[in-house]
Amino acid sequence: MQLRWSHAVVYVRDMEPMLDFYTKVLGFEITDRGPVGPAGGPEIVFMSQVPSDHHQLAFLSVRKDNDPPNSVNHFAFRVDSIDEVRAMTGRLTDDGRASNLNPMTHGNAWSIYFSDPEGNGLEVFCDTPWHVQQPQGRPWDMSKNNEEVAAETREAFAAEPGFEPIADFYKAHAKHLRNR
Ligand SMILES: [Fe+2]
Repeated sequence: MQLRWSHAVVYVRDMEPMLDFYTKVLGFEITDRGPVGPAGGPEIVFMSQVPSDHHQLAFLSVRKDNDPPNSVNHFAFRVDSIDEVRAMTGRLTDDGRASNLNPMTHGNAWSIYFSDPEGNGLEVFCDTPWHVQQPQGRPWDMSKNNEEVAAETREAFAAEPGFEPIADFYKAHAKHLRNR
């Protein structure tokens, strides 16, 4: 198994000036944005400038004025398959030092979220066959087989906006980035 760097989610104080800097100066495109969880949750904004990732960076608008500047919600690594997500979860469970293990699916990913021994947030995920507009999130049951997991995820997200084969999303995303 190889963990490949994918993205970080970072807390911000003042969303719009941060987006202005990251889009106009650093060249990121906003790929999705919306409230996390039930209505009234904090806003998350996703950004990317590579064709291979829906987001390389996301900002979550929860930082208070006097919190320290270096606030990372989590770092994320991609693996090749749902079996590898399951294997990583087994490794973490056997080792016992990670905490807060939390399997989540965003419709476009099957993830295991956890905290390292010092409490830093980490995510290991694989792509699902689909894209769906973000943010989205619900638990998934790792004890079920891959076909059952896929069927349940499809069922849960098929009616959500932007649901499409992930290859179509990456193709459109790559085209958009080429033409900007
Ligand atoms: Fe993530």
